[in-house]
Amino acid sequence: MSKGKVPHQLMVLSVIAVAVIAGFFVMRAYLTPKSFGKYGHYRADAIDDVRNLPVSYAGVNVCASCHEEVFQKKAKGFHRGVTCEVCHGPAAAHAEDNSIKPEAPRQRGGCPLCHNYNPARPTGFPQIITAEHNPGKPCMTCHNPHDPVPPTTPEDCGVCHRSIAAQKLVSKHSSVECTTCHQVPKQHFVNPRLNRVGKPTNNEACGNCHGSDVKTQPQVPKVETAKHAGRYLCWECHYPHSPENTP
Ligand code: HEC
Ligand code: HEC
Ligand code: HEC
Ligand code: HEC
Ligand code: HEC
Ligand code: HEC
Ligand code: HEC
Ligand code: HEC
Repeated sequence: MSKGKVPHQLMVLSVIAVAVIAGFFVMRAYLTPKSFGKYGHYRADAIDDVRNLPVSYAGVNVCASCHEEVFQKKAKGFHRGVTCEVCHGPAAAHAEDNSIKPEAPRQRGGCPLCHNYNPARPTGFPQIITAEHNPGKPCMTCHNPHDPVPPTTPEDCGVCHRSIAAQKLVSKHSSVECTTCHQVPKQHFVNPRLNRVGKPTNNEACGNCHGSDVKTQPQVPKVETAKHAGRYLCWECHYPHSPENTP
């Protein structure tokens, strides 16, 4: 190795190093935005750029100033926490110029974004399986989007308990109302699985009509309940919705 000669690799490396350092100073001098560093480690002009972007959302208070009625209605309903522009899209342009119409989710696609069944949603959040929930019709035919109470279901138990109702209708108990034996909370019609119906728990429920001590209903056949049933519940032998079916 000859004396004083710098190794080739070091030469290459130092050329690169000089180029990088020079590049850094050139960029700093010519390419850094002028306002960089004015308020801190960012481009101060970005504040004005963002401020000059067109405003697309007006906010619920602006909507309320013209649509007082819708606002009041929604404020009392289940959708009180869902603001107008979530459904109607950014509507600042409409608020400025009412001839520009905001969109409205009139088709079935919009509502399921929040309501389609998804196990990750919180327990109790109202969910539907969209494909099976009254398919074909837009959601609004049955639910008001600004006050989306589920529509009242028919007061008739048989709408949902069809086979029981049909069986009872042709049985000896046809004249006995469902609610004579079951305490039904109002919410059972809307949300049946979370609002359970009471069922008779002891033989008094039947003894009230069939007990031999009952004098008021002569047409109802009587038994001495304690003796007849022994230690069993009446419905362990008689199906209550069709009591003549006794094994
Ligand atoms: C300055 C008053 C004003 C403000 C503010 C305003 N609107 Fe309206 N809006 C109107 C008027 C007037 C109409 C009816 C236009 C028509 O029927 O031709 C209308 C109609 C609508 C419609 C119905 C469009 C359709 O397809 O029929 C929707 C939805 C609506 N506004 C939503 C909003 C929302 C959301 C806001 C808040 C971001 C808002 N509006 C703010 C005046 C206003
Ligand atoms: C959950 C979604 C949803 C929210 C939240 C919502 N809307 Fe609507 N809105 C709709 C739908 C869907 C329609 C179309 C109803 C129709 O055509 O029968 C509509 C219709 C309207 C209309 C026109 C017809 C009418 O019913 O008066 C106005 C005005 C309106 N919305 C304003 C508002 C305002 C103001 C807010 C906030 C206070 C709001 N909406 C919040 C979904 C929503
Ligand atoms: C941004 C999310 C969102 C959208 C979009 C939305 N909802 Fe809702 N919805 C909610 C929330 C939040 C509640 C209140 C839930 C609660 O009280 O636990 C609710 C409640 C309801 C309820 C009441 C259910 C009950 O338990 O009584 C119905 C019905 C309903 N929405 C229908 C609709 C319909 C129809 C649309 C479309 C027009 C719609 N929702 C769009 C969030 C949404
Ligand atoms: C033909 C009428 C009808 C249509 C159309 C309809 N629903 Fe319903 N919806 C009902 C009835 C009735 C109930 C209450 C009984 C039930 O849970 O099935 C209900 C209940 C609900 C509930 C509450 C469920 C719960 O567990 O509390 C939500 C949320 C809902 N509907 C959303 C929607 C959405 C979103 C659409 C559109 C994709 C829609 N519905 C279309 C009739 C309808
Ligand atoms: C909207 C539909 C619907 C209507 C209307 C309805 N029910 Fe139900 N009911 C259900 C569903 C769903 C269940 C739960 C079934 C299950 O969990 O297996 C249920 C359960 C019951 C149960 C069993 C409770 C238990 O803990 O085993 C009784 C009893 C009952 N309903 C009585 C009635 C009576 C009586 C009426 C009329 C006053 C009525 N239901 C109206 C849907 C309905
Ligand atoms: C004479 C009293 C009586 C009448 C009337 C009656 N039920 Fe029941 N029902 C009972 C008893 C008792 C049970 C509990 C049966 C058991 O645990 O084996 C029951 C159970 C039920 C169940 C739970 C599922 C089952 O088949 O065991 C449903 C649902 C139900 N009843 C619905 C109805 C409906 C709907 C009506 C009206 C059409 C009705 N019941 C009328 C006494 C009655
Ligand atoms: C509100 C009064 C009432 C209640 C409560 C009642 N029943 Fe009845 N039951 C009747 C009437 C009415 C008949 C039919 C009498 C007739 O026309 O033969 C009847 C008939 C019967 C019969 C006779 C069927 C046959 O073969 O002739 C049996 C068994 C019976 N009920 C069992 C029960 C049981 C079990 C319960 C409790 C779950 C019950 N009943 C609750 C009014 C009632
Ligand atoms: C261990 C089974 C069993 C139990 C528990 C039972 N029954 Fe019966 N029950 C029968 C049989 C079997 C018959 C029909 C034969 C008879 O008339 O003895 C009958 C007949 C009846 C009759 C018709 C009587 C008539 O004169 O036509 C009535 C009413 C009756 N039961 C009501 C009840 C009531 C109310 C209870 C509850 C307190 C009850 N049963 C519990 C087995 C039972």
